[in-house]
Amino acid sequence: MNRKIALITGASRGLGKNAALHLVAQGVDIIGTYNSRADEAQALVAEIESLGGRAAMLQLDVGQSEHFAAFAFEVAKVLRSQFDREHFDFLINNAGIGMHANFVDTTVEQFDLLVNIHFKGPFFLTQNLLPLLNDGGRIINVSSGLARFSLPGYGAYAAMKGAMEVLTRYQAKELGARNISVNILAPGAIETDFGGGTVRDNAEVNKMVAGNTALGRAGRPDDIGAAIALLVAPGSQWINGQRIEASGGMFL
Ligand SMILES: NC(=O)c1ccc[n+]([C@@H]2O[C@H](COP(=O)([O-])OP(=O)(O)OC[C@H]3O[C@@H](n4cnc5c(N)ncnc54)[C@H](OP(=O)(O)O)[C@@H]3O)[C@@H](O)[C@H]2O)c1
Repeated sequence: MNRKIALITGASRGLGKNAALHLVAQGVDIIGTYNSRADEAQALVAEIESLGGRAAMLQLDVGQSEHFAAFAFEVAKVLRSQFDREHFDFLINNAGIGMHANFVDTTVEQFDLLVNIHFKGPFFLTQNLLPLLNDGGRIINVSSGLARFSLPGYGAYAAMKGAMEVLTRYQAKELGARNISVNILAPGAIETDFGGGTVRDNAEVNKMVAGNTALGRAGRPDDIGAAIALLVAPGSQWINGQRIEASGGMFL
């Protein structure tokens, strides 16, 4: 039987990279994307190959939807040349940036950047990649705990994630005819480079997160990579159209 293939956006660092490694451990091959860090992308390919998996990394800015048709063409080429396949199995819409700006201060430029990366990007990228996604495949979108609870400074970012949560239900409804399940994973605050690495590097913020989390600590990349791997594992196909929060119980 063919090994499954996952396409993960933003796989060069943080949660996307961690998800790639968990999926490789589950026997899944990886087509990942990076935006600016070609070095990190190449290092990940080498790491996956050393683990006995297969990986290709492609450059993609998810904020530039005008390039998605060309990107899909590139993915089709890589599928054929490196994996001897026409389709992939799992799409993980993970790439993103953090931005802190109070509602009254948020500029049109900041809003446009966030909407392009966090909503318009995954919307049209998924649309462009659908012909390459196997029937019976899975889509995992990535939201945030901030779409459920509210911390000052994240209004625009969280609103885009909220939009993705609504879109997830519509995608699940419409793609059910192809037996594709669609879910959205909402991480709590996780120790990555995200938002300048604040949760990981700022002791005060880390303590605030830990103090408001039932399990008593901030999240680590492994908490999320493992959850993503779980959501595409055999046996979880019947989970569909759901928002699943992986936050250790933040602000319960
Ligand atoms: N960490 C958290 O606390 C947290 C909490 C909730 C939700 N999330 C969500 O989880 C996802 C991943 O976050 P993370 O913590 O892994 O962040 P991260 O460590 O900063 O990594 C971000 C990844 O996304 C890529 N990326 C950034 N801008 C991009 C763009 N315009 N186009 C394409 N790729 C781009 C980066 O590529 P390069 O390496 O090439 O720059 C990198 O691979 C995001 O959607 C974020 O909103 C994170």
